Amino acid sequence: MNDKIKKRIDELIEILNKASKEYYVLDNPTITDQEYDDYYSELLRLEEAYPSLKREDSPTLRVGGEAISKFEKVTHKTPMLSFDDIFNEEEIIAFDERIKKTIKNPTYTVEPKMDGLSGSLIYEKGILVRVATRGDGVVGENITANGKTIKSIPLRLNKDIDIEVRGEIYMSKSSFAKANKERELNKEPLFANPRNAAAGSVRQLDSKITAKRNLDFMAYFIPNPRDYGIKTQEESLKFLKELGFVTNYKLNTVADTAKEIIKDIEKLASIRKELPYEIDGVVLKVNNLDDEEKLGTTARVPRWGIAYKFPAEEVLTTLKEIKFTVGRTGKITPNAIFSPVHVAGSLISKATLHNEDYCLAKDIRVGDTISIRKAGDVIPEVVRVITERRNGTEKKFKMIENCPICNSRIIRKETESDYYCPNNMCPARKIENIIHFASRDAMNIDGMGESVIEDLYNEGFITNITDIYDIDKYQEELINLEGYGKKKIENLKIATEKSKSNSLEKLLFGLGIRNVGAKTAKILAKNYKTLDNLMNATLEELTSINDIGEIIAKSIIDYFKDEENIKIINKLKELGINMNYINNSGYEEKDEFKGKTFVLTGTLINITRDKASEIIENLGGKVSSSVSSKTSVVIVGASPGSKYDKALELGIPIWKEEEFINKIEK
Ligand code: IVH
Repeated sequence: MNDKIKKRIDELIEILNKASKEYYVLDNPTITDQEYDDYYSELLRLEEAYPSLKREDSPTLRVGGEAISKFEKVTHKTPMLSFDDIFNEEEIIAFDERIKKTIKNPTYTVEPKMDGLSGSLIYEKGILVRVATRGDGVVGENITANGKTIKSIPLRLNKDIDIEVRGEIYMSKSSFAKANKERELNKEPLFANPRNAAAGSVRQLDSKITAKRNLDFMAYFIPNPRDYGIKTQEESLKFLKELGFVTNYKLNTVADTAKEIIKDIEKLASIRKELPYEIDGVVLKVNNLDDEEKLGTTARVPRWGIAYKFPAEEVLTTLKEIKFTVGRTGKITPNAIFSPVHVAGSLISKATLHNEDYCLAKDIRVGDTISIRKAGDVIPEVVRVITERRNGTEKKFKMIENCPICNSRIIRKETESDYYCPNNMCPARKIENIIHFASRDAMNIDGMGESVIEDLYNEGFITNITDIYDIDKYQEELINLEGYGKKKIENLKIATEKSKSNSLEKLLFGLGIRNVGAKTAKILAKNYKTLDNLMNATLEELTSINDIGEIIAKSIIDYFKDEENIKIINKLKELGINMNYINNSGYEEKDEFKGKTFVLTGTLINITRDKASEIIENLGGKVSSSVSSKTSVVIVGASPGSKYDKALELGIPIWKEEEFINKIEK
């Protein structure tokens, strides 16, 4: 009877292990999930009824077994070393050069660097008998029960041999997403990344938990390859695949030169995002095992290989300060100021913490170790707080009660998550004015963007728009500010100098007169030619200009009545800022256009609509989009639409394209 049962158990294990390999290793299932489940249940029933017949390579072990109280320590037969890390092309070239000093024509395997944790698997007569973590490289932990739950670790090999295999235990991106979704539902802290998730899962005392986490294994190394007649790393990888392991055979390559290595790395970097698992770099190994032996190992690391790491996308740093800033609208924003770190290729030291709720939810404290990432590879953000690194000296977050600029009590409306400074005269508004003054459509001062102006303002170098032009006075102090090198300061000086010769409309718009947008500024500049003329204009004069209504006119008059504004204008004059309209269009106003309203319709052949509109404006005209009794002329291109009909109907003069071109010719 027992023989019969044993035979059936053997049959079932064979079917299930084969199916599992086809599914997980070969990516080519031949039986349905239902069939698998049926065989599995049958095996489970038999094992329960006849426990003495349960085999060590039974797939029922994959679900995990009894929890243990602690992991047993194990000493690795061969130390589990890891490679030195390098970060750029020069170091790759230097590595190749170094190898070439010992080896004549080396070739290298170029393998994706799996981002998980290394594991050692020991098979006896083809049966998995031990799974261990790397530990300190000499002594690791026995995690056999957990390892058996990893479906891509074969419980039995295709050859009945004794062998140690090393590789990476990792969590795929999809399993990671699933695990975190579940944790979110259970209100448990989320895993920061798949590597942490894998490390946490593999060290569970209850292997049933590990089983649920759906880990994977990628084989990449045999410590004693010569025992199997292997002569190269390439052959090792092939042998591992033959034994039934998942290897990265589609992505691993062999390269002869540093140039080829770099090309292979670039290729891997370009497909990195599409891979189903995380890789954090590329591992380079001298291919020939004789060469490997010649190169040997230093006290710490093998000389025959190296790990190239992709630029870090998430790094740890210390939160030095939470600095509150007041934005253009008076909005108060807490900002994390941390020890500068390189993230995805740039050095950063500041990230927004958005608002009070955000800080409280993260429980972020000054002194905390925090991890920083560049969201969408552009804006830096605090991903998480590493609470395990706290030592008790960290300072809890507390929202400020008063505006850090003007000290007014800040307010938060019930429906909003942001606090605001209610003071319209808050100097923070001054920052807003300066930012506007330097912006593209205004004085167009290159490099003088929001953050630079905020820095200059916060450091006390500037308090109003005229201070922008005094860089000479504060440049020596500015150079001590982080992020302000000589070159940057020089460029700022060049840009501010250049802005001094802008035409009047840019200055007018930059002054920030209420209701005077870029278009109105242009009309005013063209009509008054100099700022002095405009300052002397009366309400009547202003409103007599087409497009200048009473509201705009009043704003202009009010603006020039304010003594503070006059002081600023006088200072700008002193600084040598141009106050005149400069017609640099190459066109002079013409009577046929001056003060008239034009409408364009149909397809223009010899000129674009934008260019035609610009020229009309330069000649003193105005362009409108619809035809009315106020329209002076309709310019008609090919296949005109209803505007043409309307012009005919209203008896408005019509110019054909050629006629228009003739008239604009100088
Ligand atoms: S070979 C002597 N191959 O990256 C080192 N390691 O330092 C033998 N890793 O700790 C390891 N992918 O955990 C090797 N294809 C790969 C790898 C790889 C990831 C990890 C491994 C090791 C570190 C390299």
